Amino acid sequence: MNLSRRDVLTTGAALLASPALAGPAVVDAVKLRANDYPLRLTTRPTPAWIYNDAPFPVLRVARERELAVELKNSLKEHTSIHWHGLRIPNAMDGVPYVTQQPVQPGEQFTYRFAPPDTGTYLFHPHCNTSEQLGRGLAGVLVVEGDETAPFDGDVVCIIKDWRVAPDGSFLPFVTPAGAARAGTFGALRTVNAHASPAIDVPAEANVRLRLVNADSTRIAELGVEGAHAMVIAIDGHAVPPFALQSWRLGPAMRLDLAIRTPAARPVRLVDYFAAEPVTLATFVPREPAKRKRMPSLHSAKLPEPDLSRAKFHTLALSTSAAAPDYAAAPDVVLPDGTRIALADTLCLAQRSFWSIDGQSWPVTGHRHLPPPLIQFKRGQTAVIELFNTTPHPHPMHLHGHTFKVLSANKYPRPVHWADTVLVMPDERVRIAFVADNPGNWMIHCHIIEHQDTGMMAWFRVA
Ligand code: C2O
Ligand code: CU
Repeated sequence: MNLSRRDVLTTGAALLASPALAGPAVVDAVKLRANDYPLRLTTRPTPAWIYNDAPFPVLRVARERELAVELKNSLKEHTSIHWHGLRIPNAMDGVPYVTQQPVQPGEQFTYRFAPPDTGTYLFHPHCNTSEQLGRGLAGVLVVEGDETAPFDGDVVCIIKDWRVAPDGSFLPFVTPAGAARAGTFGALRTVNAHASPAIDVPAEANVRLRLVNADSTRIAELGVEGAHAMVIAIDGHAVPPFALQSWRLGPAMRLDLAIRTPAARPVRLVDYFAAEPVTLATFVPREPAKRKRMPSLHSAKLPEPDLSRAKFHTLALSTSAAAPDYAAAPDVVLPDGTRIALADTLCLAQRSFWSIDGQSWPVTGHRHLPPPLIQFKRGQTAVIELFNTTPHPHPMHLHGHTFKVLSANKYPRPVHWADTVLVMPDERVRIAFVADNPGNWMIHCHIIEHQDTGMMAWFRVA
């Protein structure tokens, strides 16, 4: 199967933001319509939900340039868009009942922000996420401007499993057995919504691969066979390049690689996590490119934590605990001033299996959100030790901030900037960040069934 054309449509120029004409400010305007879409994954169409008319749109935008994304909800249930990993204002963070009212069927909401950092990001709903993400609602935001010279090729690979039966219908997105363990795995593995696609790349060329784990559950252990691969960015942020052996990419995590393609031999993207390695995609060299030197990335510029004055917290990731005292919880005030006293909470948890620091996120129907887990003074440095007391890995994500992964005592990784970090069983991972973005921000596991069954909380920066 040759995917070059389709690849361009789904992951290339189709959604290049076009400059709006009105007003003095330079604004890129994009429309995203969340709608039903019959997706061909098996022999029969699958009732997917996607943005616009091809799965996984890729928006390529410039750093610090105003972006206006109009979300139109053509689904039969409410939705929102969370700009995963972007340090943007709280009101644009897309968390229903915490940063905005959910976008009801037939309504629209315009997200406006100027991406502060370059790199590869993900966007997805933050409502009924097991189902909405499970049905395919996700996209990639590439913030350009980090390259010292252009690569010969730039390929976005959106890795996602689908909970589909052979007849194309969806299997349940959540199962109690999965939710209480490592999550419920998909039955069909895909890259850019195709099972083991062949993707054209230039031959003897410098190619940037942007790997995005858009799955709700699976942690992939990614490697490249047939070419030398260097890791050049993690969660969008440049790192001093190092050779890729393999890299564990949990849900919502991203990894940018630079590869030098061979003349003709195919290059494979492989997942080593299972006993038998799985080829996720094959890159097929075509026309040779001319550039000889591998470009590099400008180094990441993020607020440097001041560890000598940090506020230290340990957050234990555990199995379910008592729900917090909702009566003591204050009303939530949305960034636009709306007061929320009667929220039906943002997730459809049926039960709770998991907790952060002894608190489980409430199940549907509670009158209040729980109190914030931690309150920071704006500008304060936070050091958090995430301690996983459970037998399952948890990819932990913080909203609104980029943290530095300082240390991990089980699965060594270089010090790097991230927004999502994998915490392995029994592992203690220390992260640090400057709490400089005011607002109410989520912290949760990105295995969506864990998030939906308790492993979520929020912190406040004021
Ligand atoms: Cu990508 Cu709160 O999540
Ligand atoms: Cu988890």
